[in-house]
Amino acid sequence: MEGPRLERPLTSVPPLPAAAMEGAGAVLDSARLFRYGEHVPEGTWVARLERAFAEHFGTRFAVAVNSGGSAMFLALRSAGVEADDVVLLNAFTLAPVPGAIEHLGAKVVLVDVDADLRVDLVDLETAIVEHRPKAFLLSHMRGHVADMAGVVALCEAHDVILIEDCAHTLGASYDGTPTGLFGAAGCFSLQTWKQINAGEGGIIVTDDEDLAARAILASGAYMLHAQHGTPPSEDVIQRWAPHTPNCSMRLNELAAAIALPQLASLEERNDAWRAIYGRLEAGVRGLPNLRVPRTLDEVVHAPTSFQFIADLPSDAIEHRLAVCAERGVPIKWFGRPQATGFTSVHRHWGYVEARALPKGDAVLAGLCDVRLPSDLTEDEVDTIVAVLRLAFDH
Ligand SMILES: Cc1ncc(COP(=O)(O)O)c(C=O)c1O
Repeated sequence: MEGPRLERPLTSVPPLPAAAMEGAGAVLDSARLFRYGEHVPEGTWVARLERAFAEHFGTRFAVAVNSGGSAMFLALRSAGVEADDVVLLNAFTLAPVPGAIEHLGAKVVLVDVDADLRVDLVDLETAIVEHRPKAFLLSHMRGHVADMAGVVALCEAHDVILIEDCAHTLGASYDGTPTGLFGAAGCFSLQTWKQINAGEGGIIVTDDEDLAARAILASGAYMLHAQHGTPPSEDVIQRWAPHTPNCSMRLNELAAAIALPQLASLEERNDAWRAIYGRLEAGVRGLPNLRVPRTLDEVVHAPTSFQFIADLPSDAIEHRLAVCAERGVPIKWFGRPQATGFTSVHRHWGYVEARALPKGDAVLAGLCDVRLPSDLTEDEVDTIVAVLRLAFDH
């Protein structure tokens, strides 16, 4: 084949740091894989990870759990959301996010997103007034951070609990404040394709002692909550213990040992990702059929992937993405009629009531998504640019 072709798979995962291997080895040697025990004189990896997250964000509490989905479920539940409550959710997100709301037995009401993939504040206010939600689960999907000043103002004005899904924004901020700190709780994922790769895992950060106590108890602490990295006082725990079921959503020691050193090197990786994203964005600028969503000036992003909107009919998008795939650049497309691979959109979620989302549907129809391993070289990024230019420059 003549012309550009990317030889390295975009599905490749960068190696874990040596410290993660050492930590994992120590856990395996000890055979103590469970986060609790009757005898933990040196504390546990999970507790250290919780302390490290709380320190990193300057929050009073961090609660580690077994996935990002569990983090959202537990954060909503522990903030007081109950079955049959309405929870708003921005329409550009991934299936585990409505899944966390459904898991609670609460009702998902979708909110429209604008041409730059951010929640539409006018529709957010309309949905608040029409549906009287208990909470808004704001998903910073693919790292596109909303107008947080506007979101917080609306939630405060209408007494709506704000929970942030930060699965794609560990290291991103708005006006100097890290995502995860704008509402009652921030929820992170430690799944392989996120900023920290522990295979599976989730973390809730919060300053609310009741929320933290309820999340610890519901995550399945048995009576060993004191072994947490940032436990609330015994009084607070006892306020909730009799009323909180054990939902068994604990993080294990192996995942925590793998995750902990990656928090220390987070900024290094995020800088690499920002450089890759910036080079890619500059490379495709000016292409006639392709638009890159704008990031707000207030936002420092932490991209792990690259999105563009192809302003073309479906069959033309299909054809151009086939050209990219042939040349080693697989691209996911949110406009596909069927849910495929990791990619689905609200019309595939039959359990969520349909709602008119005209702006979101217009942008999702052409939305394309490229995964970016953090160790892509400049040459590899230039090859991706060359492939996109070849496919879209006419
Ligand atoms: C936007 C978003 N939020 C939350 C999650 C949930 O994370 P987890 O897979 O750890 O449950 C994902 C997973 O990919 C996601 O893409």
